[in-house]
Amino acid sequence: MQTIVLPQETDVLKGSFLPPGDKSISHRAVMFGALSEGTSFYSHFLEAEDCLHTVRAFQSLGVSMESENAGELRIKGAGMNGLKAPEKELYLGNSGTTMRLMLGILAGQRFQAVLSGDPSLSSRPMGRVTRPLKQMGAQIKGRDHGNFAPLTIRGGRLRGIDFENDLASAQVKSAILLAGLFAEGPTRIKEWIPSRDHTERFLEGAGASFRREGEWISVERTERLQALEAEIPGDISAAAFFIAGAAMTPGSELTVEKVCLNPTRTGFLEVLKKMGASIQSAVTQEVPEPFGTIHIRGGRLRGTRITKKEIPSLIDELPILMTAAALAEGESLISGAEELRVKETDRIHSMVTGLKTLGANIEELPDGCLIRGVERFRGGRVRSFGDHRTAMSLAIATLMMKDELTIEDIACVATSFPSFFDEFRRLKQKIKKRISSNEGKSRNM
Ligand code: S3P
Repeated sequence: MQTIVLPQETDVLKGSFLPPGDKSISHRAVMFGALSEGTSFYSHFLEAEDCLHTVRAFQSLGVSMESENAGELRIKGAGMNGLKAPEKELYLGNSGTTMRLMLGILAGQRFQAVLSGDPSLSSRPMGRVTRPLKQMGAQIKGRDHGNFAPLTIRGGRLRGIDFENDLASAQVKSAILLAGLFAEGPTRIKEWIPSRDHTERFLEGAGASFRREGEWISVERTERLQALEAEIPGDISAAAFFIAGAAMTPGSELTVEKVCLNPTRTGFLEVLKKMGASIQSAVTQEVPEPFGTIHIRGGRLRGTRITKKEIPSLIDELPILMTAAALAEGESLISGAEELRVKETDRIHSMVTGLKTLGANIEELPDGCLIRGVERFRGGRVRSFGDHRTAMSLAIATLMMKDELTIEDIACVATSFPSFFDEFRRLKQKIKKRISSNEGKSRNM
């Protein structure tokens, strides 16, 4: 075997990485802490803008919270009936999870509150949550019959409903479950495709009247929730940028530690494995959620298909999977992912636009995209569209790029992963790429 060293440089990811606390779990930690009796204590809480909006909103509802050290959060629960009417509008920034889940909690309160957000959040559909909550008895007003923020909500006496979660949205499911804690009679939810189950795990952990019965889950009026103490696992959706980055660059070797391995969140690891990635994961702890370690070794990936039933388990990882698929050998097809169009931005459009500028062969479809892999990206100037996951998915593309990339508006990464660029710099190493040729065929080593 002949080895030729080309004077060409490429980047790899090397080392180990502790992801920031999980965003979905951090939001719920604040909400359940606020409604519990007694003091809850969490470590490795995600101190990113989205979760800090949840903290501030509950402080405005009279809940006392303090943080002595970075990542620690102590919450003095107000109990199920102890929240106070806010003095001013609750501004929730960019955070869809805060708005949708808070609507569920506020639906059970006998006071009025106004929820608002930034232009992105004000253009995201809220009717999926406000419609069932109105059916339960909440009064909600907002533009387009309560479909868009700012929203004014007055809660009160609620009654349980049966609800089929056709959008497979964990935010919708969680809002209804939270409202169900205040309702008369059972609130039952059926899911065709399972979405992340963090709320269900919190309900069980805090001792709510919660049951899983076959395809249905149900919750009943609960007078008391127990305070919790937990270390919040690392966010697999934040780790995903470096996991995919390592998997798609030959020569990378990365270990991700203390990362959430809840099976409703790991769909993207399965897809990367299908694409030929070398990934080993092991659960080391089960409480408060399964979490553990992931090892990744880089290589050339192959194209794949991602279909509707896989989408909820990897919804937030689709942008970075699009980057990985753009470099994979052969064709990839993502379908059934129309929900991506109503995230912090239209992520099908933002990623297709960005990746095209980088030289990818990618076509936008109504519910996904069709990609034919190229060998590397070229530099240029792209837009994040103010969306944190688009910004980070395009930044990872620089691993397989010789020239420079400018990403407009990167401040948005603070929404979920403020230390992203510092970590990226720390893990990134330049290597001389070795091209070896064997029987006339060249391949990367
Ligand atoms: C989330 C659920 C998902 C995800 C979002 C966080 C949650 O949204 O995209 O980032 O914490 O419940 P949907 O459930 O609306 O798809």
